[in-house]
Amino acid sequence: MIQKINSFEEYQSEYAKSVANPEEFWAEHAQTFQWKKQWDKTLEWNFEEPKIEWFKGGKLNITENCLDRHLEERGDKTAILWEPNDPSESAIHITYKELHERVCQFANVLKNNGGKKGDRICLYMPMVPELAIAVLACARIGAIHSVVFAGFSAKALADRINDAKCNILLTSDGGFRGAKTINLKSIADEALENCSSIQKSIVLKRINSEVTMKEGRDVWLHDELAKVDVNCKAEEMDAEDPLFILYTSGSTGQPKGVQHTIGGYMVYTEYSFRNVFQYEENDVYWCTADIGWVTGHSYIVYGPLLAGATTVMFEGVPTYPDAGRFWEVVEKHKINAFYTAPTAIRALQACDIGFVNKYDLSSLKVLGSVGEPINVEAWEWYNKHIGKNNCPIVDTWWQTETGGIMISPLAGITPLKPTYATLPLPGIQPCLVDADGNETEGNDVVGNLCIKFPWPSMLRTLWGDHERCRQTYFATYSGKYFTGDGCKRDENGMYRITGRVDDVINVSGHRMGTAEVENAINEHEAVIESAIVGYPHDIKGQGIYAYCIMETGKAVDDKTRTEILAKVTDIIGPIAKPDKIQFVSGLPKTRSGKIMRRILRKIAEGDTSNLGDTSTLLDPSVVEEIKIGAL
Ligand code: PRX
Repeated sequence: MIQKINSFEEYQSEYAKSVANPEEFWAEHAQTFQWKKQWDKTLEWNFEEPKIEWFKGGKLNITENCLDRHLEERGDKTAILWEPNDPSESAIHITYKELHERVCQFANVLKNNGGKKGDRICLYMPMVPELAIAVLACARIGAIHSVVFAGFSAKALADRINDAKCNILLTSDGGFRGAKTINLKSIADEALENCSSIQKSIVLKRINSEVTMKEGRDVWLHDELAKVDVNCKAEEMDAEDPLFILYTSGSTGQPKGVQHTIGGYMVYTEYSFRNVFQYEENDVYWCTADIGWVTGHSYIVYGPLLAGATTVMFEGVPTYPDAGRFWEVVEKHKINAFYTAPTAIRALQACDIGFVNKYDLSSLKVLGSVGEPINVEAWEWYNKHIGKNNCPIVDTWWQTETGGIMISPLAGITPLKPTYATLPLPGIQPCLVDADGNETEGNDVVGNLCIKFPWPSMLRTLWGDHERCRQTYFATYSGKYFTGDGCKRDENGMYRITGRVDDVINVSGHRMGTAEVENAINEHEAVIESAIVGYPHDIKGQGIYAYCIMETGKAVDDKTRTEILAKVTDIIGPIAKPDKIQFVSGLPKTRSGKIMRRILRKIAEGDTSNLGDTSTLLDPSVVEEIKIGAL
């Protein structure tokens, strides 16, 4: 097992070692895993193509490292502790031994239904244990999982299935989320009307709703499980074979299928999990993310299970049945490490403090934050009311593309600074780059955040579009991976992420491409053109502000607004719905037709005092009109 760093001095020496000799550093950690065959070369890379290969020639199966290798020592330890949406339903403890059996059994179901090595299998499921089991079952047989968040619409699901040409869909009759039930099967049915690659759909019964099962395509999971046993040999995989695809938003309308491979992702997720959270053998660890996002992949499923941890999976939402739910669960399961998003903290901070004070939170040792910059008020509330000024807060900066936490305190080991992600993990070499593409040396500086040396869990490509991968991440600054984030490095070398510098906005910790939302809005038959910007939002971090030009004659009223929102829900999902829609007669454009978003952002922020130079606009008068109509 990977050993944790135990002191700041050790962090410093490990960091120095990881930069001086990265290959030796990572090879030592990789040695702690079970390989079927040792790798031939630790690292081969160039950022021009880009081509990145870690542990080349090594053979393994990641599920043997998540499950089989723990059986002897931790067979009876809880691997997954599942807390249901409804607090009156019982929690479920699944031991490593049981999880191993259930993964093998599920893997046999996949095989019986035509699943095999290299296939892409789509998962569109609620937060139930079967989702984690299904992820691991794919990895067991060497199939590539593509989890689609269960809040996405039929159209978004179909696009993702078609892009990866998945042959199997794993779904459920539905899911519970707070007071709502979501009929996932009917959404999936609508999606599958346009997905010719899908041969089989395997359906979990969760909400007991009436569903239509399509003959020859749809089968019930419980029927299929009854046909198979609990033994399934792990497929031998290459370290650089793909493990999963996860779609994320970019600056064009088309989502990107970020592709991760097995060996490097395995080494880095366990390494970062253990070190950031300082996980100890009997800790109960809870990450509140959904497995539909990368945080759930790396820090609910893979990282914790690789470390032999007890990982909590929560089906519900923070405010159901009331705003005390998170804290009730912390008390009930004696959670030691708790990892959530700033948006959830802000939402709960806005509720009566009685919801917190009712519960005993003394089991907590470590708190974490992820997904967006955490504002100082939320940081202080989290520290005071949840951590009782006694738990380090790890503000973890990373991305779908990085696979694992890149810049973060190591809990209790390295220094904290509110709103700062602080220092890079060993093996991570960040740098700041100025507008001319030159690296900005020294401290007390700002710039665009890049990473200048490969790390094991970095993305290898975008599914089916390597050129887009090169252009998006490796072409802006030669020889560097560009994150898309702006960043400050303070006088002590600590990093503070200031937010996206591209056309991506971060709403409640979810990445949204402005083009993606605009395309959806433009599908409304009376919308001629639209422009989306982010604006500061008390709970969500950023809200979505939409400016729409409508056909003449179309009523610009709340009914039209509702229709536009319904369109966005249909095409992407409710998470992409604009918070504000302003109808305008024109947009501020340059003579070459480019929308000046800078101006729209300022107006959306309510800061119209200094809009900068508007003389280059095609029609400067439009700005006045937009200012007057601002919401
Ligand atoms: O802008 C950064 C922000 O979220 C982006 C990555 O989003 P996604 O790929 O969806 O992954 C989210 C979970 C890892 C980043 O480019 N971000 C993430 N964590 C932080 C953050 N911004 C500031 N501080 C963070 N801790």
